[in-house]
Amino acid sequence: MRLFNIILKDIRDKVKYYIKTFGCQMNVYDSQRIAHILQNMGHTAADAPADADIIIFNTCHIREKAAEKLFSDLGRINLIKEERQAAGKETIIGVVGCVVQAEDEQIAKRAPFVNFATGPLTYYRIPEILGKIAQQKNICLIDTEFTSESKFDHLPQNRAEGGCSYLAIQEGCNNFCTYCIVPYTRGVETSRPVEEVLKEARRLVETGTLEINLLGQNVNAYHGEDAAGRERDLAHLLRRLAEIDGLQRLRYTTSYPADVNDDLIACHRDLKKLMPYLHLPLQSGSDRILKAMNRRHNRGQYLEIIAKLRDANPELGFSSDFIVGFPGETDQDFEATLDMVEQVGYIQAFSFKYSRRAGTPAAVYPDQIDEKVKSERLNILQEKLFSQQLNFNKGCIGRIMPVLFESKGRKKGQLFGRTPYMQNLHARVPAELINRILPVRVTDATANSLGGTVIQQSD
Ligand code: 5AD
Ligand code: SF4
Repeated sequence: MRLFNIILKDIRDKVKYYIKTFGCQMNVYDSQRIAHILQNMGHTAADAPADADIIIFNTCHIREKAAEKLFSDLGRINLIKEERQAAGKETIIGVVGCVVQAEDEQIAKRAPFVNFATGPLTYYRIPEILGKIAQQKNICLIDTEFTSESKFDHLPQNRAEGGCSYLAIQEGCNNFCTYCIVPYTRGVETSRPVEEVLKEARRLVETGTLEINLLGQNVNAYHGEDAAGRERDLAHLLRRLAEIDGLQRLRYTTSYPADVNDDLIACHRDLKKLMPYLHLPLQSGSDRILKAMNRRHNRGQYLEIIAKLRDANPELGFSSDFIVGFPGETDQDFEATLDMVEQVGYIQAFSFKYSRRAGTPAAVYPDQIDEKVKSERLNILQEKLFSQQLNFNKGCIGRIMPVLFESKGRKKGQLFGRTPYMQNLHARVPAELINRILPVRVTDATANSLGGTVIQQSD
């Protein structure tokens, strides 16, 4: 107990934390907010877990592998904890995120050395939890309440960590796709009020953000209240955000096809700041499978939305998520997915083998697909998606694109940045130009990244 008191009270300025993030952009956002909480307590970031007094894992539960990886990683962290203990240093291990919500008992059983675990909606309580741990060593506090309170009311003000920032505007999901664990881990859909989002966005811009990526599990179901108490949709929010001086780029993710309305489509025509890249998960190209997945769109409706969006902005590039080997998927269903990929033409995509998640309806569907078949289908699909991505990237050679340089690149003298299409780009640029948008002529391309030369250095 004495040691924890030392850690948390007496030498606060020396307490170091290390946060490891798994999973989606929402987790990256949450980890940043957790870092802000810890920084406000006077703690500083450690470069490696072995140097950290507080180690936090922000976890993902979307597919089985993600959860299993957590337990093996936690085992390694416990070794670090033991080594530190032998050297007279205490370590607090915390787990946050979606695994906690779904596997709280497993954490207590398989990783009893964890000191606290709290779900994705309640991590704002970390200062209180750390206070309790300071009082009582070796406890394992697990907090999985679905609180009606908004964590956003309790978090410290957000601030930019660089030129690109995430901003969560909506959380949870009411769609209940039959394969998906998210509605059970992130809860029902809630939207943040318009003014609160605008305030956070302004603050991000004041502290150096040029690009904001609005986040939500079903971001285009956004329906936050405005100052007059009226419900507003994502299109309204985008138009208001686009008015912020100094904000140069807007994105939003992840969208649900059936919730794309005409106003949102019009934003892609009207708003120059809205980047011409849209992630619109199709999941499967077979109407039969889409129905079994409980998706509220079919092939025809999806193609219609894509056509309307392209009509609004012919420059738009699309990406998607796909699941292969959903229970009952036949060769014919899989062919239908390949056919949709051919018809739409994606510039990027994420594809996964169906993973059984306990508690979701599809986990107990009959006709589960053999792992070997899943792997074969995934290979075929990924090959097709890879060649589309490569073609798109190669087609960019010779084009001049505005690139937001975010960080140092892999090679010396290089910076890493992103094009409007979210392509990774490396170019020789002086480090002081990080967090600037510069025009770049694309000179070479692979499926995963572009290379280029800055053609003039201006603001
Ligand atoms: N198995 C495989 N992929 C899944 N996803 C969600 N749940 C599962 C699952 N049980 C994929 C979907 C979703 C993305 C974030 O993860 O494609 O869009
Ligand atoms: Fe999961 Fe479907 Fe909701 Fe996306 S829309 S989070 S896949 S339930």
